[in-house]
Amino acid sequence: TTKLIIDTDPGIDDAMAIFYAAAAPDIDLLGLTTIFGNVTTKTATRNALRLLEAAELDVPVAHGAETPLVLPPFTPSAHVHGAEGFGDIPAETPKGSQLDEDAADFLIRMAREHKGELVVCPIGPLTNIAHAIQRDADFAKNVKRIVIMGGSLEEGGNITPHAEANIYHDPHAADVVFGSGAQVEMVGLDVTHRILCTQGDFSAIAAQSPDLGGMLQKMSVFYLHFYETVGKFDGCSLHDPAAVIACTHPELFTARSVAMEVSCDGETSGETRLSTKSGRKPIDVYMAVDADAVKALFLKRLAILP
Ligand code: BDR
Ligand code: CA
Repeated sequence: TTKLIIDTDPGIDDAMAIFYAAAAPDIDLLGLTTIFGNVTTKTATRNALRLLEAAELDVPVAHGAETPLVLPPFTPSAHVHGAEGFGDIPAETPKGSQLDEDAADFLIRMAREHKGELVVCPIGPLTNIAHAIQRDADFAKNVKRIVIMGGSLEEGGNITPHAEANIYHDPHAADVVFGSGAQVEMVGLDVTHRILCTQGDFSAIAAQSPDLGGMLQKMSVFYLHFYETVGKFDGCSLHDPAAVIACTHPELFTARSVAMEVSCDGETSGETRLSTKSGRKPIDVYMAVDADAVKALFLKRLAILP
């Protein structure tokens, strides 16, 4: 099994990814760390606790950074994931609470305790990961892999013509991660735009998994509606689930090994591109995917949830 920490801004597709991890027999979920992005970090922590309680998973949540590394704080926009992160599903206060330790310290400690084994899967902006790299010189070596949902190489952006949302919200942090020397894998729009789920797919999940699948189905209505407002009628992308699936099933993807950097200003801010900086270690940029296989795995595993 894969020892996994998901760094997340839940978020509708984040919820899908976390429930997938809950259902996957090959994932040992060691914790969730939270970050701003789709919602504020406070809301992300509340939502993460809520998802774990719904899934009856007893794993720790560590609260993450509330502002980007360099850019000024921003107010998340509600139009993609709803004001509270889960579409039209109302906010609820979870029973549990987060760790005293912050996200970066938790990541550093887990990477030491599970040296050479821990896989970190960031599915939001990369601020916490950058803090962990900057706070502990050994973090990049201690982690086995950092499998990121974010960026794009040939596909263009989704929040601007140049930038994917997770990278855009903290480009400086993403550049720290790309330049860290860690085993970094980028699951970006080049692949996630190929993996689509329709209302029919979510209805099928809900039929087999009325509680958790039903919750995802309700959220997906809002999410799919957003996709339609931007002219996409063939379903929503499984961005965040794709990254979690890449953690255990890299063979379903084809990667290019290239050094990468991030534009941190101007019109292209948040663009991920081939690096011209000398001495950067190549990372694995996922360029192609067996989308049917990824989707089949997603549907099959969610179906076993209550
Ligand atoms: C990413 O941005 C967020 O809106 C999603 O949750 C996903 O992590 C896609 O660009
Ligand atoms: Ca996300």
